[in-house]
Amino acid sequence: MSFIIRLGTVDDAAGIANVQVSTWRDAYATIIDPEFLRNFSLEEATKTQIERIETDGAYRLVALIESQVVGYAVSNVKKDEPFTNDWFMFALYVLPKCQGLGIGKALISGTIAKGRKRGFSRLVFGVFSENEPSKEFYRRQGAQFVERLDFGVGGKVYPTDYCQILIH
Ligand SMILES: CC(C)(COP(=O)(O)OP(=O)(O)OC[C@H]1O[C@@H](n2cnc3c(N)ncnc32)[C@H](O)[C@@H]1OP(=O)(O)O)[C@@H](O)C(=O)NCCC(=O)NCCS
Repeated sequence: MSFIIRLGTVDDAAGIANVQVSTWRDAYATIIDPEFLRNFSLEEATKTQIERIETDGAYRLVALIESQVVGYAVSNVKKDEPFTNDWFMFALYVLPKCQGLGIGKALISGTIAKGRKRGFSRLVFGVFSENEPSKEFYRRQGAQFVERLDFGVGGKVYPTDYCQILIH
C-alpha cells in the first residue's frame, strides 16, 4: 500500500487524534492504566491536538493513505529539562492496521532530516521501558539507550527509556 508524508496542519487534528487514541489503546493496553485508556476520548484528544498544532510551533509530519491520516511524528527543540536544546521527538505513532509498511521508518527519517538541517547532533526520544516492540523498532533505526526516567501520564508515572539516534 502506498503512502505519502507531508507537513501536518490544523486540518489534520482529528486524523492525528484518531491515530493517537487507536494506537495508545492497542500498544499501551498492558502498559498504562486501563481506566485512563478507556476514558481517553477522541473528542478530548482532538481538542488537545488542535491546541497543540496552533501553539507549539513543532515540526509535525503526517503519513496518509488515500487521504486518511495513518501516522504522525512530532519533533521540536525541547524547552524543559531533561534534554534541553536537543532535537526531541515527542510522538511517533502509526495506526495498528498500517504498521509494518515502512511508515514509521519514513516518519523518523523525515524527523532526523529536519534535525540535521537545523544543526543538531542527535535525535532524542522516550519510549516506555515495557514497550518492547517499539524498542526493537528503534534499535533497528540505530537508537542507543541513554537513561531511564519516569514519565507521567494521567497522574501515574511509568519507567521510560530515553534513547538517542546520532545525526551525522
Ligand atoms: C513503532 C512504530 C512507530 C513503527 O512504525 P511501523 O510503520 O510499524 O514500522 P516500519 O514498518 O517503518 O518498520 C521499519 C523497520 O522496523 C522493523 N520493525 C518494526 N516494528 C518492529 C518490531 N516490533 N520488531 C522488530 N522489528 C520491527 C520493520 O521490520 C522494518 O525493518 P526493515 O527496515 O528491516 O524492513 C509503530 O509500530 C507504532 O506506532 N507502534 C505502536 C505505538 C508506539 O509504541 N509508538 C512509539 C512510541 S515511543
